[in-house]
Amino acid sequence: MTHESDSADLPTLRVRGVRKHFTLHLRDGRDLPVLHGVDLDAAAGECVALVGASGQGKSTLIKCLYGNYGVDSGSILLRTDGGEIDMARATPQQIIGLRERAIAYVSQFLRAVPRVPAIDVVAERLLQAHPVTADLGQTDAWQAAQEAAREEVAALFERLNLPRALWQLPPATFSGGEQQRVNIARGFILPSDLLLLDEPTASLDAANRRVVIQLIHEAKTRGATVIGIFHDEEVRDAVATRCVTLPAASAELETTR
Ligand SMILES: Nc1ncnc2c1ncn2[C@@H]1O[C@H](COP(=O)(O)OP(=O)(O)OP(=O)(O)O)[C@@H](O)[C@H]1O
Ligand SMILES: [Mg+2]
Repeated sequence: MTHESDSADLPTLRVRGVRKHFTLHLRDGRDLPVLHGVDLDAAAGECVALVGASGQGKSTLIKCLYGNYGVDSGSILLRTDGGEIDMARATPQQIIGLRERAIAYVSQFLRAVPRVPAIDVVAERLLQAHPVTADLGQTDAWQAAQEAAREEVAALFERLNLPRALWQLPPATFSGGEQQRVNIARGFILPSDLLLLDEPTASLDAANRRVVIQLIHEAKTRGATVIGIFHDEEVRDAVATRCVTLPAASAELETTR
């Protein structure tokens, strides 16, 4: 950041007027408006909880912030060490670059490459962000980096009480809670600027929920901006600095094609 002193108190994330609809091709192209002009500011060290009824668009907004979905209008300004970028207008290459380091996303379900052991599903994220290892190929230095990454992941798996017997197995057959912990490890292993959490504790028992609460506190303390959906009120109360309710639908937006 070149203007640290000027911008230190600005929000890391500034969302303005975001609107989004889905077109339901299986229902004669009917439009389903979901986001109705979302404004949201979030600063470094904050955890903003998105609240609202089921189907109101919380997960959709998180996917827009991650660049998975485009928006109809509005802007999603994200400030990182690399400068400021509008996620609503970023190119695929810019989005991929931001996901390597600056943005992490923990969805409720793990989508992992088949046959890759759990430990490597997470270590891969560390190695991806490694400035040197990508060019090293199968050299000793690359193997050393891979070993170091696996050790770091092992420490996080220990914290998340993931049974050691599972570490070398692909997560496809893991239980919901086991898969969720691999997903959480993948989201938290790097110190990202923006952490997007979609019900990260939905399948966890009380002990593991406490570990996730602790991980979120640590992320806030090191200055991450956290945007989360937490249906579990106990977790929400423990981590959220404030709650934001998404704007409700306005009747005139609901059109039929
Ligand atoms: N890819 C999609 N295509 C079409 N409609 C979608 C798509 N994704 C979400 N929707 C619809 O958009 C609306 C908002 O969905 P979303 O998943 O964002 O809700 P939510 O607030 O996260 O709900 P919940 O609390 O149940 O998780 C829902 O009516 C859903 O059916
Ligand atoms: Mg949702």
